[in-house]
Amino acid sequence: MARLKIVYYPKPVLLTVGKPVEEFDESLKKLIEDMFETMYQAQGVGLAAPQVAVSKRLFVMDCSGGEDQLQKIALINPEIIHVEGEQIGDEGCLSFPGLYQKVQRNLRTIVRYQDINGEFQELDGENLTARCVLHETDHCDGIVFLDRMTILKREMAKRKIKKLQKTGKWE
Ligand code: NI
Repeated sequence: MARLKIVYYPKPVLLTVGKPVEEFDESLKKLIEDMFETMYQAQGVGLAAPQVAVSKRLFVMDCSGGEDQLQKIALINPEIIHVEGEQIGDEGCLSFPGLYQKVQRNLRTIVRYQDINGEFQELDGENLTARCVLHETDHCDGIVFLDRMTILKREMAKRKIKKLQKTGKWE
């Protein structure tokens, strides 16, 4: 396994719609293994392919932070097929290091996706799982969490990003 380089906002790959995955081959398996490794190393609960400069529709997630093997899931070609309710909570993103901001999301989502073998699956989740699925599916569509903030919060976030960029932590 290899750790991949995470790209930071506003790299164009983060703002580009990913291409559907068509080949469920060894190179896809390798990419997914490397993405899990990279996500755990960075202590994130989700990581989408565009965040490692691969413009494809897939992401990995584990809302248990490595505690529960059942929550370690790779979702390929995700499609949100049902949402309900709402939640407001702090959200971060590995492509926005050091930035946390309140974002409104649905409370429950059902996502249809393909697993590593290309088989169709559905994941029905609430709370953090729903937040993570929506955040990561957005990445596959070239949408970042900044786009989901209220105008006021987005302006605050942009000022904070400028400050963070000056620290040199943010390339
Ligand atoms: Ni993110």
